[in-house]
Amino acid sequence: MIGRLSHVAIAVPDLDAACRRYRDGLGAAVSDPRPMPEHGVTAVFVELPNTRVELLEPLGDSSPIAGFLERHPTGGLHHLCFEVEDIEAALQALEARGVRVLGEGRPAPGAHGRPVLFLHPKDFGGTLIELEEA
Ligand code: CO
Repeated sequence: MIGRLSHVAIAVPDLDAACRRYRDGLGAAVSDPRPMPEHGVTAVFVELPNTRVELLEPLGDSSPIAGFLERHPTGGLHHLCFEVEDIEAALQALEARGVRVLGEGRPAPGAHGRPVLFLHPKDFGGTLIELEEA
């Protein structure tokens, strides 16, 4: 069902500092910060030859990553995102297999404008999984 690794998302308390680490420390190509108020984060994309890393900083009062950063004050791996060809077909297959889908259990527009689903971290070794229609 799943295809390529779309991105690895890391929640950070200080986006500027994280950008410097990747750009100046690792020599990576780092995008300008992109505020996404509808998702409660500001994101930076680290472009790699085979995937990308998203650095996420909370934005606004009800950021979905605020609680995560309270538990992990220095930041940490927030989720992995895998591509799927057809998100509705993926959802049906997941339901048939008893995999827990978070939220309302329906695809919703993700940070890249494509529909996404999130799967329960307790089913995946403690790692939140995002599926994104490619
Ligand atoms: Co993501």
